[in-house]
Amino acid sequence: MEGRVAFVTGGGSGMGRETARLLAEVGARVTVCDRDGDAARETVEIVEEAGGTARVEEADVSDSGAVNRAVAAAADAFGPIDALVNIAGIYRIAAVEDIADEDWARMFAVHVDGTFYTCRAVLPGMIAARSGAIVNMSSLHAVRGQANAAHYAAAKGAIIGLTKSIAREKGPFGIRANAVAPGPIDTPLWRGAVPPDEIDAVMAKRSEVIPMGRLGAPAEVAQTIVHLLSPAASYITGQVVTIDGGESMA
Ligand SMILES: NC(=O)c1ccc[n+]([C@@H]2O[C@H](COP(=O)([O-])OP(=O)(O)OC[C@H]3O[C@@H](n4cnc5c(N)ncnc54)[C@H](O)[C@@H]3O)[C@@H](O)[C@H]2O)c1
Repeated sequence: MEGRVAFVTGGGSGMGRETARLLAEVGARVTVCDRDGDAARETVEIVEEAGGTARVEEADVSDSGAVNRAVAAAADAFGPIDALVNIAGIYRIAAVEDIADEDWARMFAVHVDGTFYTCRAVLPGMIAARSGAIVNMSSLHAVRGQANAAHYAAAKGAIIGLTKSIAREKGPFGIRANAVAPGPIDTPLWRGAVPPDEIDAVMAKRSEVIPMGRLGAPAEVAQTIVHLLSPAASYITGQVVTIDGGESMA
């Protein structure tokens, strides 16, 4: 990834932070985009302390103008983006009949609109360069469905359709697009969905149905994302890579 220019949304925490850190470690210059500017700055500090190159773009990915400005500023600073990673996301728990219009809309705004806006913003540069790679964050919930998170699962499903369409449309331009679909990964988002005093019990129960017997670590997803962005994955496009410790195997 030496010399590559990466843009990572949700780079202030969890899998986004780990992906930004790893991309910088393997030589990419990374723009860390997050709506939480302090969190993104912390990621940049981690990267810089390790000798890498990174910068911050504070932006809410559901705001197309903010995304356009962030992508333009990133390209001004480091050159045209050739590796885009959409990781920004939120999680909410609600039965279908209890999902309010605004909660449904927000879920789609962050995941689907946000992923679309960044892809739309970087693609002209990738088309001009006749190369580029995109990795979008889906979820096991998109593939299997999830009780009490239908809005989340539906939004993550839409990301798969968007990703495969980009792969078909832009393959002729040398651009690849893939999605990752993690199972439970131990991050602030996963922990935030569980009452604090029940985390150990919920984690143990969930681990029982995972052949690997545990939740995943952010690094285990980041490694796959970096592989999908790299020349080593030059013939992989339009795929959804499941990273779930074997939980969903047929
Ligand atoms: N943790 C899991 O078990 C799991 C499993 C499958 C998929 N995912 C998905 O992976 C992604 C990362 O999850 P995580 O667990 O690392 O979460 P996390 O909460 O640790 O990190 C998410 C980051 O996204 C940022 N963000 C949220 N909304 C944003 C917005 N509108 N604009 C810009 N930034 C925004 C947050 O500030 C945060 O820094 C999410 O899309 C999530 O849905 C998580």
